[in-house]
Order: sequence, then structure tokens, then C-alpha cells
Amino acid sequence: PGPGGPFAFADGNDTYRLNAFGFLHYAVVALGTPNVTFLVALDTGSDLFWVPCDCLKCAPLSSPEYGNLKFDVYSPRKSSTSRKVPCSSSLCDLQTQCNSAASKSCPYSIEYLSDNTSSNGVLIEDVLYLASESGKSKITQAPITFGCGQVQTGSFLGSAAPNGLLGLGMDSKSVPSLLASQGVAANSFSMCFGEDGHGRINFGDTGSADQLETPLNIYKHNPYYNISIIGAMAGGKTFSTKFSAVVDSGTSFTALSDPMYTEITSAFDKQVKEKRNQADSSLPFEYCYTISAKGALSHPNISLTAKGGSIFPVNDPIITITDISSVREHRC
Ligand SMILES: *[C@@H]1O[C@H](CO)[C@@H](O)[C@H](O)[C@H]1NC(C)=O
Ligand SMILES: *[C@@H]1O[C@H](CO)[C@@H](O)[C@H](O)[C@H]1NC(C)=O
Ligand SMILES: *[C@@H]1O[C@H](CO)[C@@H](O)[C@H](O)[C@H]1NC(C)=O
Ligand SMILES: *[C@@H]1O[C@H](CO)[C@@H](O)[C@H](O)[C@H]1NC(C)=O
Ligand SMILES: *[C@@H]1O[C@H](CO)[C@@H](O)[C@H](O)[C@H]1NC(C)=O
Repeated sequence: PGPGGPFAFADGNDTYRLNAFGFLHYAVVALGTPNVTFLVALDTGSDLFWVPCDCLKCAPLSSPEYGNLKFDVYSPRKSSTSRKVPCSSSLCDLQTQCNSAASKSCPYSIEYLSDNTSSNGVLIEDVLYLASESGKSKITQAPITFGCGQVQTGSFLGSAAPNGLLGLGMDSKSVPSLLASQGVAANSFSMCFGEDGHGRINFGDTGSADQLETPLNIYKHNPYYNISIIGAMAGGKTFSTKFSAVVDSGTSFTALSDPMYTEITSAFDKQVKEKRNQADSSLPFEYCYTISAKGALSHPNISLTAKGGSIFPVNDPIITITDISSVREHRC
């Protein structure tokens, strides 16, 4: 049969923004036989999917900071459908490191943009459970390759992606690419994040009928979801500009470089009535305002105009940092 779709994860098409886990977007995925479920960060800025597995150094499975959440780990020995990925596999990047180890599994090691943040382990093949969105809840078991993450470092030890990360990039290792190369789903996926942080993800689909479009700048050796921005708006002020940006759902905050950063932030600042704080070296943000615990910051809306003219409204241009000592809140 030809590729099908659209699919959702077997546990549902829902995505959740979790501020406690690095302000990233997460989904629930089921892997292996019997299945084990994971709450994974959805990352368009990388390719490999990995979950905590046969842990030597992983984030805790439960913690007061997690609330009621309790996480699971994967173990190849406990799944009857698990297979080693041999060093000869085209998905094995570290073939040169295979010979030295006693194990014949392909090792992987991936570093992320955040300081000292990495995942390391061996590649595994097992089944990922998908549900077809059309044939209501018919479950498909898709064989995929992912990382058995034995050693995590940096943010992955608790503050972000504590239960694994799902790469949605363009490379052949990403989950959408693997589903396409196995003939399970068409080579596409869509995500939509609501203003309240709740959203959805689908595979092998063409997105929603009302979505806007912009072309990607594709470089084979540097395959990111790279788009061109041609304009911006901060409240009443519009800017005509030209810069490229990588759409990376695995980075919590949008970063702009100059001159756009200075133009947008100073136009934003001019339109905020609250008093701006003194620079605070403990915060990574330059523009912060103090408001009372009950108050709301009245701020201008921000939007970006992408190549082709579609307008991307920035849902949430500020973040709230609660200062417990003074029962005040800073908005940055
Ligand atoms: C997401 O799943 C819900 C519940 O199964 C369904 O009602 C909805 O149509 C799905 N949305 C999309 C865009 O597939
Ligand atoms: C996962 O296993 C549970 C039983 O432990 C079962 O109820 C559930 O349907 C399974 N999920 C999938 C997607 O097969
Ligand atoms: C990164 O890790 C190294 C070694 O563990 C440590 O010396 C260094 O301070 C860390 N850097 C940051 C920014 O955490
Ligand atoms: C994104 O595309 C632009 C325009 O083609 C290019 O100049 C830039 O280097 C690309 N950025 C990345 C990170 O690939
Ligand atoms: C900002 O955008 C929202 C939603 O589109 C709108 O309701 C609101 O009036 C706008 N605020 C300002 C100050 O323009």
C-alpha cells in the first residue's frame, strides 16, 4: 500500500506547552511491546528522536517540580519488538566509533544549542504507535529508529525535555522522514500551537485549510526550516526589513539580531506605559517592567511578515517572572 495519513500519535494529536519544562511544546508517544509512553519535546530544530533508556544519567522520573507526573524509561531488553541498529546502517553516523566497543550497536552522541546539553547512547529500532485520523483510532505500528538515551547532560537533566525529545527536522533520521522512508506516511507533518499553549500535531497531512504559507530557504548541507522575514510590526509602528530565521520549536524564546532587535524592542518599549526596571544581571532579558501581582502589562502586539506576505502574529511577546520576595511581577 502507498503512504497513508493523516496520522496522530496513538495517545492523541494533542500538544502541550509546559512552562515548567523549558517553555517547550510536548506530546505523548507510545513505543515498544508492551508499549511504554513518553512525554517528549517536539523539536523542529533537530532530527534524532531519543528517550531516556537504560539510564546511567537521566532526569529524575518524578519530582515535586513535576507535580503528579511520573515518567517511564525505555529498555530494549523489555520490548519484544526492539532491535539493535547495526553499525553498517545508513542511519549510523558514528560508524568509526563502533569497532572499539564490545557492543555492536551503533552509538550516537548529539549536542544541542543550550550550554552543555547533550544526549548519548545507542540507536535502537522499535515500533511507534500511530492512529489514523480518518479511519478513527485504527492503530498502526510504525518501525522507527531512535536513540536509547543512557547519558543526558545540561538542561535534559530536569529543566527541559526530561522524558525525551522528538526531532522533526528535514534529515533522514527525523521521525517524519523515517515514516516517509518506511512508506507509512507521506513526507510531511503539521503542527499548530494555540495561544493557550494547547495544540496538535499530525503526520502525512497537509495542515489546516486556513493556514498561511511562506517558502523555505533550503540548503542541503544545513537543512533547517529557514524562512525569510520581510517586515515586522510593533503596535502602530511598521518596519520594512529583510532577514532569515530558523523556525525551531525546540528553542524556548525567539532571538532577533540587530538591527531588527533594537528597532522592535525600542518601538515596543516606547509603547509600554509601565516603568522599565534597572538592568538586572540575573535575567537574560533587557526590557523588564514591574507590575503589581494583579496587574496586567498593556503592551503593543508584535507580528512578523514572512516572504509572500503572510503575517505571523507573535502570540506571547512577553514572559512573567514572579519575584516572591516583593510580591511583584516583572514582565520581560
Ligand atoms: C485531533 O483529535 C481530536 C480528537 O481525536 C479530533 O476531534 C480532531 O479532529 C483532531 N484534529 C486534527 C486536526 O486532526
Ligand atoms: C499500551 O498498553 C496498554 C496496556 O498496558 C493498552 O491499554 C494500550 O492500548 C496500549 N497502547 C497502544 C497504542 O497500543
Ligand atoms: C559545562 O560542563 C563542564 C564540565 O562538566 C563544566 O566545567 C562547565 O562549567 C559547564 N558549563 C556550563 C555553562 O554549565
Ligand atoms: C537561511 O537562509 C538565508 C537566505 O538564503 C541564508 O543567508 C542563511 O545563511 C540561512 N541560515 C541558516 C542557518 O542556514
Ligand atoms: C492585540 O491583538 C489581539 C488579538 O488579535 C487584539 O484582541 C488586541 O486588541 C490587540 N491589542 C492591541 C493593543 O492592539
